[in-house]
Amino acid sequence: MSFRVAVLTVSDTASKDARADKSGPLIRDLIQPHSFVVADSRIVPDNESVVKAVVATWCSSGNIDWIITTGGTGFGEHDRTPEAIKALLEREAPGLVHLLLSSSISHTPLAALSRPVAGSIGRTLVVTLPGSTKAVRENLTCLLESGILRLGQLI
Ligand code: MTE
Repeated sequence: MSFRVAVLTVSDTASKDARADKSGPLIRDLIQPHSFVVADSRIVPDNESVVKAVVATWCSSGNIDWIITTGGTGFGEHDRTPEAIKALLEREAPGLVHLLLSSSISHTPLAALSRPVAGSIGRTLVVTLPGSTKAVRENLTCLLESGILRLGQLI
């Protein structure tokens, strides 16, 4: 059975004009060769309640194995993605966060400005990625190449 993925782009800009969303489509392109099926995708503004509502709905649907968010992980005034996801997580995955940060910092010290969270909600794995396409590519490549996503089948 294919691993069903939902992609959530968190961006004020892209929520007003979907053409501005480069990272959501990139995630789709990067995961599809690895036999992941993108079952749903959404673009939402940097709004903690909206992020929580979309993620909670996906998790309770029973149709999503892995949620990847992109954007809103930094220290900008409106960056609240980690807070939204952390409030929902049932079990945190600090090892995944460590993997993402250590790999990212090998690319750029600016990665220290991201505040990723990861973990499970019910049987769904949730991972937050930064917003830029460069960061998405680096983080997802690290995850895909690590083979760690077989973890999702353990949840
Ligand atoms: N991680 C990787 N791997 N590569 C990057 O270029 N950019 C950083 C960081 N993480 C970066 C990265 C930067 S500049 C910021 S501001 C933070 O992610 C937060 O990004 P976000 O607010 O778009 O989520």
